[in-house]
Amino acid sequence: MNHRIAILGSTGSIGCSALQVIEHLGEPYRATGLGAHSRLEQLVQQVRRHRPTAVVVTGEDADEAALRQIADCGAELYRGSQGMCRLVERDDVDVVLAAVVGAAGLPAVLATVKAGKRLALANKESLVVAGSLVIPEARRSGAEIIPVDSEHSAIFQALQCGRRDQVQRVILTASGGPFRNATAGQMHNATLQDALNHPTWRMGNKNTIDSATLFNKGLELIEACWLFDLPPEQIEIVIHPESVIHSMVEFVDGSVLAQLSPPDMRMPIQYAITYPSRLRGSTKRLNLAEPFQFRFQPPDVDRFPAVRIAYDVARRGGTLGAVMNAANEEAVAAFCGGKIAFGEISRAVELTIEAHRLQPSPTLDDLLEADRWAREAVAGLLAESKLRKFAHAP
Ligand SMILES: NC(=O)c1ccc[n+]([C@@H]2O[C@H](COP(=O)([O-])OP(=O)(O)OC[C@H]3O[C@@H](n4cnc5c(N)ncnc54)[C@H](OP(=O)(O)O)[C@@H]3O)[C@@H](O)[C@H]2O)c1
Repeated sequence: MNHRIAILGSTGSIGCSALQVIEHLGEPYRATGLGAHSRLEQLVQQVRRHRPTAVVVTGEDADEAALRQIADCGAELYRGSQGMCRLVERDDVDVVLAAVVGAAGLPAVLATVKAGKRLALANKESLVVAGSLVIPEARRSGAEIIPVDSEHSAIFQALQCGRRDQVQRVILTASGGPFRNATAGQMHNATLQDALNHPTWRMGNKNTIDSATLFNKGLELIEACWLFDLPPEQIEIVIHPESVIHSMVEFVDGSVLAQLSPPDMRMPIQYAITYPSRLRGSTKRLNLAEPFQFRFQPPDVDRFPAVRIAYDVARRGGTLGAVMNAANEEAVAAFCGGKIAFGEISRAVELTIEAHRLQPSPTLDDLLEADRWAREAVAGLLAESKLRKFAHAP
């Protein structure tokens, strides 16, 4: 039975889409667990509507009235990161949709695979930080990891058409984000509003900024290496502005298999929940009678250094994934807070990686320490004014 679902990050973009999918699917699919960090008003509404048996709130200064309202709905209330781990272990949770943003999602992801439950994975950062622990743990326990990222869902589906030793390469598509055609100067001085103006996807702020720097694609490259047991050399990133081909797999005979659908995250979320079944979807259908065009171009690594950085991190491994991810999270927060220019996000990550002493076979403690170290390193760069601030373009 794979029908009782815990959604961690239920108040976010993926979490809200997941609740729509569950409503669309109807019985026997149910959200038995919900988890949020700070948007408690929204969480209370979700609890009233979906009547989960368990709820976790991770934010420390949670509003007591909201917590009481959740408890009044009969849900067992858990708190903090440990609370997320306890919630995923419950007997009435079969599938965990990990839709928390950032490395904060890692403890619950690890707890899910340790418990041998299906992990519907949106929280790519947890694999970037600790794929070396999550994947072996899933193999040990038999936990299935079904990707929610549209690209990885496409690869997961295309890979079902051949054996792993028949795969020539994986082609990971990227929309190119809002700065696909911008000059380096325009990008350097981009405002938060410019960076959040994604042409094809509506996502949480962090993921949207990552799409603008292409760190999102870098994180996805590393995620794909872990999920599909591929070296980075076998994965090619291609810009496809229409975001209709979600990714492709080329087999050794030269045949290329792609998965296509209009961009809507409810499609891969539903597949991750219902796999191996395919149930009727609720999203817009591809209409090939309308005029359309598919374009492809390689990413410009000079304007988007994140791509080069991520390939290097994927090759060298060890603690570098944790460092790249944490430095990026801090640099994105600094950009969103108006402390650094958009163009400085990649530089902050690169400077932090350069200063890091790589540990090739890290334990969980080593990875958490590398994460902490990288966050401090970015704070140090900020304190020493080593990162340029936003300057209004003339
Ligand atoms: N959005 C997309 O289309 C998309 C596509 C593919 C993959 N993803 C991945 O899915 C994940 C979520 O993305 P999103 O766009 O849905 O993000 P989002 O809209 O920003 O939502 C993030 C969720 O995580 C919760 N959260 C934030 N900090 C937390 C913490 N410290 N501990 C526990 N929960 C925390 C938030 O709770 P509050 O809102 O209550 O604060 C919210 O529910 C990311 O890893 C992203 O890369 C997203």
